[in-house]
Amino acid sequence: MTMKYYSLNSGDIIPALGLGTWKSEPGEVGGAVREALRAGYRHIDCAAIYQNEAEVGQAIDAAVTAGEVRRDELWITSKLWNSAHRAHDVLPALQQTLDDLQLDYLDLYLVHWPVSFKPGVVFARSADEFLPPDEPPLSETWSALEATVDAGLCRNIGLSNFSAGKCREILDSARIPPAVNQVELHPILAQTELLDACAAQGIHLTAYSPLGSPDRPDALKRPGEPQPLADPVVQAVAERNGATPAQVLIAWAMQRGTSVIPKSVNPERIRQNFEATKIELGPEDMAAIGALDRAERIVRGEFLCPSGSPYSVEWLWA
Ligand code: A2P
Repeated sequence: MTMKYYSLNSGDIIPALGLGTWKSEPGEVGGAVREALRAGYRHIDCAAIYQNEAEVGQAIDAAVTAGEVRRDELWITSKLWNSAHRAHDVLPALQQTLDDLQLDYLDLYLVHWPVSFKPGVVFARSADEFLPPDEPPLSETWSALEATVDAGLCRNIGLSNFSAGKCREILDSARIPPAVNQVELHPILAQTELLDACAAQGIHLTAYSPLGSPDRPDALKRPGEPQPLADPVVQAVAERNGATPAQVLIAWAMQRGTSVIPKSVNPERIRQNFEATKIELGPEDMAAIGALDRAERIVRGEFLCPSGSPYSVEWLWA
């Protein structure tokens, strides 16, 4: 099975399918990474705030040491947390991630959210734990990320949860343009406008929560929310193609030119999701799934915007 790759504006290529590790518990995530590497995955999506990078690092190291995979075949992404946006906090945060992952460099380092917390705050809950949007300006954070590329610590840098307008603001002052924007993307939130706007700006999109994150914390759940895996159209397309709903969602994402990072800690589902690289959906199936868009988010970001904070959900996605 040949993995599809997408070209980035840096000249690098990113594997179309990666393993997501958000919500993968310590004690489970290492086994999942090892299983994924054995199944053929070469792209692992991580973040400091997932609080499991040390175990991911052990699994990568074990696979490399056992000769199962070479570091230069791997694509490892991580993300800068909201409490480290000030320029002098970026390098220590990256160094911690590199130490945890047992790596000399990342393939991709993303600004996780365009929202800044005070240094040392893991999760801001009250207004006084935030820094306002211009303190520091995200252009300052971006310059510090550019310096990590200069230092050879990151091959590519990018954004996550950035609207088209916020991508534009970064691009306007960037010396190195963002290579990737990683956002929630599944058929119920197809992000077509953002996909087009980012394509016009030379920015590749990675789709997170491609299966609708049914294992997300209760605090992120509301009745009637999108459930792409349970959608009857997705299920019918799956049946027609002799595939599972998850495979259809993954294949759909890749056929739209986005890389995609389904999370699983279950060996059978990890392998099943990888097999989606074999599936080719026809134009009618793509159109049927394309008609499901309700522009509805699962990760709305209200947990980053408590009342009195300098942020609002409207500001976030504007
Ligand atoms: P598990 O980790 O037990 O396999 P997302 O990538 O959108 O965040 O979704 C992750 C969720 O989807 C997890 O609950 C994961 O459970 C589940 N999942 C992953 N792969 C599949 C699959 N092939 N079929 C059904 N559920 C899946």
